[in-house]
Amino acid sequence: MSADPAVVAALRVAGCVFAEDEARLIAAAARTPEQTAAMVARRSAGEPLEHVVGFAEFAGLRIGVGPGVFVPRRRTEFLARQAAALLPARGAVVLDLCCGSGAVGAFLAASAEGVELHAADVDPAAVACARGNVAAAGGKVHQGDLFAPLPAALRGRVDVLAANVPYVPSGAIGLLPAEARDHEARVALDGGADGLDVLRRVAAEARGWLAAGGSLLSETSQEQAPLALAALRAGGLAAREVTDEEMGATVVIGTRPA
Ligand SMILES: C[S@@+](CC[C@H](N)C(=O)[O-])C[C@H]1O[C@@H](n2cnc3c(N)ncnc32)[C@H](O)[C@@H]1O
Repeated sequence: MSADPAVVAALRVAGCVFAEDEARLIAAAARTPEQTAAMVARRSAGEPLEHVVGFAEFAGLRIGVGPGVFVPRRRTEFLARQAAALLPARGAVVLDLCCGSGAVGAFLAASAEGVELHAADVDPAAVACARGNVAAAGGKVHQGDLFAPLPAALRGRVDVLAANVPYVPSGAIGLLPAEARDHEARVALDGGADGLDVLRRVAAEARGWLAAGGSLLSETSQEQAPLALAALRAGGLAAREVTDEEMGATVVIGTRPA
């Protein structure tokens, strides 16, 4: 799809660095000139492109993303691939906790045969969005605080628990790009004083939900990793850290001893 020069110019004026690419995506998403104009106006006002066109690319998948929902980051593809590497070849039980759009869970469901996928989030907008993405992968989405909405029958059965929880320290929220600060829910970003409040709660309960040999994976900043590892160990898990410098990604992995 070719980029409309007028749209490219409008996006450039609004400060969009990749105006041609964005114009092409808008052209593909809009069905009428009115829709195009509305999308250009929203993007020019600073809304994330993914909210405007309604989807994000994640690890080769097209993931639906609604207004207000956390846009899955490229960096998180590292967590998703680390998690995929831990899936049993068949019949894995996967839990995508703090699932947002459900991007990580959808990727994991597509990564092995016969995955039983559960996803959960506290934010109704995220849950509605995840239902679209995860249902396509045959998964179930639950709404509520961390593990609270999950069926008890899942306890002790989870092979891979991916939990990309909010981990921005409260005091650093104001330093985030406006696209995140103004257009993603605070609950999706704010991890408390040192950013690790939600991870600590997840780590304290994870062991009871993991199968023997199952693993919890969570993204953190490089600086947070030592405290995050300590939280996993305090939860009775064998903990390690993996990083991808090129992607700027750090993931802590806690495994329930077999
Ligand atoms: C950083 S976003 C990550 C979303 C998704 N996992 C991803 O990687 O794109 C964190 C998500 O955690 C959810 N969340 C925050 N606190 C929660 C809680 N106590 N229980 C369940 N979900 C929570 C937010 O609504 C948000 O969707």
